[in-house]
Amino acid sequence: MRKVLVTGGTGYIGSHTAIQLANAGFEVVILDNLSNSSKGVVARIEELSKRQVDFIEGDIRDHELLRNIFSQHTFDSVIHFAGLKAVGESEEQPLRYFDNNVSGSIVLFDEMIKAGVYKLIFSSSATVYGDPGYVCYSENTPLAPINVYGRTKLMVEDILRDLKKSQPKWQIALLRYFNPVGAHESGRIGENPFGVPNNLMPFISQVAIGRRSKLMVYGNDYATPDGTGLRDYIHVEDLAAGHVAALKTLGDVNPFITLNLGTGKPYSVLEMISAFERASGIKIPYEIVGRRAGDLSEYYANADLAKEILGWQAKLGIDRMCADTWCWQKSNPEGYGID
Ligand code: NAD
Ligand code: UD1
Repeated sequence: MRKVLVTGGTGYIGSHTAIQLANAGFEVVILDNLSNSSKGVVARIEELSKRQVDFIEGDIRDHELLRNIFSQHTFDSVIHFAGLKAVGESEEQPLRYFDNNVSGSIVLFDEMIKAGVYKLIFSSSATVYGDPGYVCYSENTPLAPINVYGRTKLMVEDILRDLKKSQPKWQIALLRYFNPVGAHESGRIGENPFGVPNNLMPFISQVAIGRRSKLMVYGNDYATPDGTGLRDYIHVEDLAAGHVAALKTLGDVNPFITLNLGTGKPYSVLEMISAFERASGIKIPYEIVGRRAGDLSEYYANADLAKEILGWQAKLGIDRMCADTWCWQKSNPEGYGID
């Protein structure tokens, strides 16, 4: 059976992907330092996939640990989700972000080479595009991130492009996610941000469950139909399916792929609030406040290439995104904290 090391596998996207990998017949080993996730996720991944999943608590920056892991398992591939992802925090603590996301990736890639594992999927982000001056981003959109977090993603992409040049046997997929939302349809796993959520969807769902009194809508004076920001929200289950498709596609015919994973259809903040209200039957109180620094008015993916190369496209729409988020939130009001 093909074995895959999933770094960051107890996190939001990693946990959903781990289930789909197990369901697709991959043997899954998770490495996570639990800096932004809970150990209780592992049992839920096993429960939902009905398969055993190995979990190793540890840090991708730990050379010795990685050497042990690679000597104890024969991996076919690595999916590298582990990373810090809060934009505001990255501006305040740049060294922590470069160390975790960039230095950590270097340690991982170095140990992969030593172990002879050359197949990798890397979690990149639409953030690598910055602000190109237009709103539909193809993979050829110039790479010019406007924050530290985005620069860590671009640096790792650059490292991987250089690695491929230096050792052509590498098989690498750079997947640039747009805005992942939603949860597993069972409501057993979902997004569980520690502290105050930075992103829209978890904030809305915490308002709905009563953990926060109201949502702040960051600006209604953008040049969009209702004045609020437009984003390409993608269901995390579609995103997970994109990883399984990428793993199956990577090979001699497609040895290096760079793909946007999005739906191509953006929604505004007010549309997301209405959709969530429809799905939950709960009114979401909100207040319009000033714009958030660093926000763009609108962007979304041109996801044609992923369809062409992977035969993958997002299937789940805004109603499922909201219904699944709400199912997760209402059955786990304190996230995994109730374990
Ligand atoms: P997450 O925080 O839920 O998951 C990341 C996991 O990595 C966490 O479980 C955390 O504990 C772990 N981790 C962090 N640093 C580590 C280290 N040094 N060693 C071991 N484990 C470590 O985030 P997510 O939303 O699941 O994101 C997964 C990846 O996708 C990240 O790399 C993120 O930058 C990228 N991404 C996320 C989004 C998004 O909106 N969620 C968008 C684009 C890209
Ligand atoms: C943010 C990050 C981006 C990252 C993405 C991952 C910033 C500046 N950008 O993008 O780098 O890749 O998350 O998902 O942080 N909004 C509100 N109120 C809130 C939260 C958000 O009105 O409490 C609005 C935002 O202004 C935006 C939209 O909702 O218009 C989506 O915001 P968010 O979920 O934070 O995602 P991005 O800003 O797209």
